Formats: sequence, structure tokens, C-alpha cells
Amino acid sequence: MKRTHNCGELRLTDDKSEINLAGWIDRRRDHGGLIFIDLRDKYGKTQVVFEPDQKDIFDTADSLRNEFVISIQGSVRPRLEGKINDKLPTGEIEIVASTLTILNKSEPLPIAINDHEQVSKEGEEVRARYRYLELRRPWVQKNISLKAEFLHHTRAFFYKYKFSDIETPVLCKSTPEGARDYLVPSRVNPGKFYALPQSPQTYKQLLMISGFDRYFQIAKCFRDEDLRADRQPEFTQIDVEMSFVDTEDVYEVFDTYINEVLPNVWKNFDAPGKIPRMTYADAMLKYGSDKPDIRFDMQIHDVTEIAKNVDFAVFKNVANGNGVVRGFAATGCVDFTRKQIDELTKFVGRYGAKGLVWMRQKEAGIESQVAKFFQPEQIDALGEAIHGQPGDMLFFIAADEKTTANALGHLRIEVAKMKGLTESSVKKFLWVVDFPMFEYSETENRYTSMHHPFTAPLDEHVEKFENGDFAGMTSKGYDLVLNGVEIGGGSIRIHQPDVQHKAFKALGLSDEEVRDKFGYFVDAFKYGAPPHGGLAFGVDRILATMENIESIRDFIPFPKTSTASAVMEESPSNVDAQQLLDVHITLNQAEEE
Ligand code: AMO
Ligand code: AMP
Repeated sequence: MKRTHNCGELRLTDDKSEINLAGWIDRRRDHGGLIFIDLRDKYGKTQVVFEPDQKDIFDTADSLRNEFVISIQGSVRPRLEGKINDKLPTGEIEIVASTLTILNKSEPLPIAINDHEQVSKEGEEVRARYRYLELRRPWVQKNISLKAEFLHHTRAFFYKYKFSDIETPVLCKSTPEGARDYLVPSRVNPGKFYALPQSPQTYKQLLMISGFDRYFQIAKCFRDEDLRADRQPEFTQIDVEMSFVDTEDVYEVFDTYINEVLPNVWKNFDAPGKIPRMTYADAMLKYGSDKPDIRFDMQIHDVTEIAKNVDFAVFKNVANGNGVVRGFAATGCVDFTRKQIDELTKFVGRYGAKGLVWMRQKEAGIESQVAKFFQPEQIDALGEAIHGQPGDMLFFIAADEKTTANALGHLRIEVAKMKGLTESSVKKFLWVVDFPMFEYSETENRYTSMHHPFTAPLDEHVEKFENGDFAGMTSKGYDLVLNGVEIGGGSIRIHQPDVQHKAFKALGLSDEEVRDKFGYFVDAFKYGAPPHGGLAFGVDRILATMENIESIRDFIPFPKTSTASAVMEESPSNVDAQQLLDVHITLNQAEEE
């Protein structure tokens, strides 16, 4: 039976219409001989009534249970006064059914479809196992539909601006994004493996060399890394690359993207206009993070100079040694209890801070347990340096620069969470620019790329390769940050073979390693590579951040758990001995058990 309407569509203006509906039974109630059901589909819910005088269908109606799939014919009528449900768009009408067909029955469900209250009582495990049922939940379905709509508008944007949608391989050669690869053994090439792409990075650059000029792809990426709320082993990127561009051109395209696409998807979204920019150095100094949340102020300030002359040994020693002393004024936190402060001291300890100095800035002046180690004017100078106001709690940490920035950066966010500031629905975009080219890895004893090894240095920094000042080199890499979440990243790439050669050398890669890992790629640059650059957005992160939802899993139809497994289909799983033989793999005993 063909549907004439969906379950979210009918209104008072449809009064007396003869209609056909189909869907799932959301709820069934018996009322004084009448049977009411809420019929649900993707579009909404409509109330259907079965009256006892319709003998032929009433008994069948009586057998209906939740989640049966049915179709009905009937006529629309206004609901009785007092029975109108203004929470439902269809709440002013109901359907009196004249026919009823059960298209399929349902066993009692392991999870409740339409009961918010139940969700917290159901375990993760059962929800993951029955993900296809969880996806029936209107609020879960809304997130997935939102993603579809977002991608629709995204594609339209890139078509409009003449980007070509071009596919790249999934069975590929390892790509250098810094995570572990997922490997796929090759049956016909014994002992050899493909990698699943961590991103289409090398392919999109090759497409520029091939002359495609403007590329985009909604690409699946695979990274074997430790999972968190904002990380999944497979996730979706909006991947973009352009030829003959420099940083400004990229910023312009993506400023336009944010301003044009997002208001189509989020009707109340205030387009931000030109997205502000902040250098990496400033972000680290003022926010202790390369992805500052600028919805709230509470900027970090350096007070090392003041700290050099105080009697407080911790400050003095660190400030006169190799470290820094920094702090920020936690707005309106003057009344934090000792217990709260002790917890925050433990909190910063997790990021390596040995302690946390705190001062209450009251109307009458600054009070602190460690005040006795400071001259009054030094205390005042500290308060002033970090812009403390009466009502604020002043926090300071002394340590090496990296630890101080990181600990204060996290403390700033933690305090903001405690004050409810991170729940703000305000959206603040920020370009973080001028990333360093390299960072020194103590564990690997060598420089590693801050973005990836194909990121170009600033033109005026290329010469620094010669004098070995790798630490002093700034790259043409950038990240786009939304409310403290890195939603995108990219760079202008190196397009000259000699510069790429120097970059690989700086990373400590031998010619053999380069040949082995990127031989095809390095070769391609010998045949006329245009200047090019691009960016990739994390689709799931944009959606989660726009919707103020903590986990990106809510936007992935079939996500993995924190142990990278799919509970529903029980994957990863064992395979037949023959399948392993086919791909030339022997498991060692310990792993088999
Ligand atoms: P990058 O590694 O910064 O850059 O990734 C780009 C964006 O992808 C998102 N992202 C993730 N989302 C969910 N789960 C993950 N495990 C995950 N990892 C990354 C983030 C991130 O900003 N090829 C380069 C881009 C380029 O240079 O053009 C790249 O992949 O939002
Ligand atoms: P202590 O001298 O260890 O009793 O510390 C006195 C105060 O200074 C306590 O509030 C500590 O949390 C704090 N403190 C100790 N080390 C540091 C540090 N490196 N940075 C900031 N505060 C510290």
C-alpha cells in the first residue's frame, strides 16, 4: 500500500482527508474501548485511533505491540478539545483507521526506543549490540540525518566553487599522519601489506601535480591510535587541495565555506564573517593550547620577570633557572573552597605541575597562604600582570615552559567547565597559524614534523635548513579551531624537490628511507609540480562541536568502542585458518589464545 503522507506531515488543514500511513508503533494505549497508537517514522509521529465498531480490524489492533510495522488507511479528524498535544507538530489531529495491515511483528525490544530516561540505565554494551535499534531513537536519528544534510551542503559548496570530487585508493601505501597504520595483507604478494589511508594526503598532492587544480573528497580515514571522545579509528574528512595558492587563499576559501555552509545547516547560526587568526606562539602563551577556546577570556600571562625577585623559593628558582612562571585570573572564582583548590592542584599534577599557587583577590586586597614570601607590592604586581579583578582567584604555576603552558591551559578549561562557561552555545572559530615546522622528540631523539613532512616552511625560513636552525623554523601550516576543538588542519606544501629533500634530512630520514617510503612521491615532484596547499576538516568533530555534544560517536552510524571494536558485528574477529594461509599469515600461539 503506497503511503500518501509521512508520519510528521498531517495538519488540521487535512481534516477529512483519506490518507495512507505506514511506520512503527511507538506507543499503544487502551482507553475505554478505544485503542490509540502513535505511529512513528523518520519524519515524526501521528496518532491513530481504532474504534470498537470497526469489528474487522479492532481485534488485530488489539494485538499490536510496540515496534510492529503496520500500514493503515483512514481519515483525518481534529482531536477533541483538551486532547491536543502542542509538543507534536501533528498534535492537533488524529487518524481514524479504516484498514490495518501488520507488515511485520516485533519481539519485545532489548532497549527502549523512545524513553530518554531509560538511556542512562541501559549499558553501553547493549546499546552498541543493538545499534540498529538505537538508531531508531529520534534524537540519534536526528544526528545522523544532520550529518547527511551537512554533507549535502558541503558538496554543493565545493561544486559551486568548481572543485572536482575525485576518489583516492583505500588500499594504499602508508601515509604519514603520525598514527599507526591499519594493515591489509596481500594474497597475491606474499608477505606484503597495504595500509589503509590515514588521510588521502599524498594522493591529493599527486592530483595537483596531475593538473586537477581544485580537488575535494568526503574521505574515510583510518588511524590506529588510542581512542578518546573526539577520536575514532575510522572517521570522515572533508579533504581539499588547491593549486597555485598560498595561505591567504586557503583562509579565504574556508572562511567562505564556514560563512556559507553552516547557516544552511544550523538556521540560528550567526555567520562569523572573517575568522580571526592567532599565531601558534600566542596561542601557547595566552591559552596554553594550540586549540584555544576563545569563548571566554581568562588569558594566561607570563610573570617570570616579577618572580625572579621574590622570596618564594619555588618561583625564584624556576624563574632564575630555565623555567617560567605564569598565571591567570579565574573570573569570579574567589570563593573556591580549599577542597576545590586541592582537587585543582591534583588536576594540574596530572599535567606535570608540581603545585599550584592560588591567591584570592578580594575587594580589600589579595589574600594568599604564601603571601608571607612576597613583598606586598610584588603580590600587587602579580595580580596586575594577570589582570586580576576583585572576585577572581589567581592561579600560578612555575615549571618548564611546556609543562606550565599545558597545565595552565588545561586548568583554564577545567575552571571554565566548573563555571559552566563551556556549555555556552556561542560558536567561536579561530585560525591558529604560524606553527613551528618541527618539534623535538625526546623519545625519538630527533625532530619530527608538527604537521606532516610535506608542509612548507615560510619562504624566508627556507635558508634555516642550511644553518640547522630547525627549531626556529615556522611553517605554512594552520589549524581551524572551533570552541577549543581542532576541527581542521592543513598547510601549503613543499613543491620544490630540493626543499623537500632538506625537510626529510631535518627529520633524520636517510635517502634509503625516503626512497622506500615516499619514492613515488618524491619522483613526481621532478616533473613540474605546481605550488599547492589544502586542508582537511573532521566532519564528526564539526558536528559534535556545533551541537555541543561531547562524543563524535553520536554522529557515526556504526561507531567503534574505546577498544576499537564493533560490538554488534563482533569485529575484529577470528578468521578461518584457510583465510590466514591465503594471505600468508601465521599467528603465534599467544595471540591465538
Ligand atoms: P589532520 O591529521 O590534522 O590533517 O586531520 C584533519 C582533521 O581530521 C580530524 N581528525 C579526526 N577526527 C576523528 N577521529 C580521528 N581519529 C581524527 N584524526 C583527525 C580533525 C583534524 O583536524 N592530511 C592532513 C590534512 C592536510 O594537510 O590537508 C590531515 O589529515 O578534525
Ligand atoms: P610547598 O612549599 O610545597 O608547601 O608549596 C607551597 C604552595 O606552592 C602550594 O600551594 C603548592 O601547591 C605551590 N607550589 C609548589 N610548587 C609549585 C610550582 N612549581 N608551581 C606553582 N605552585 C607551586
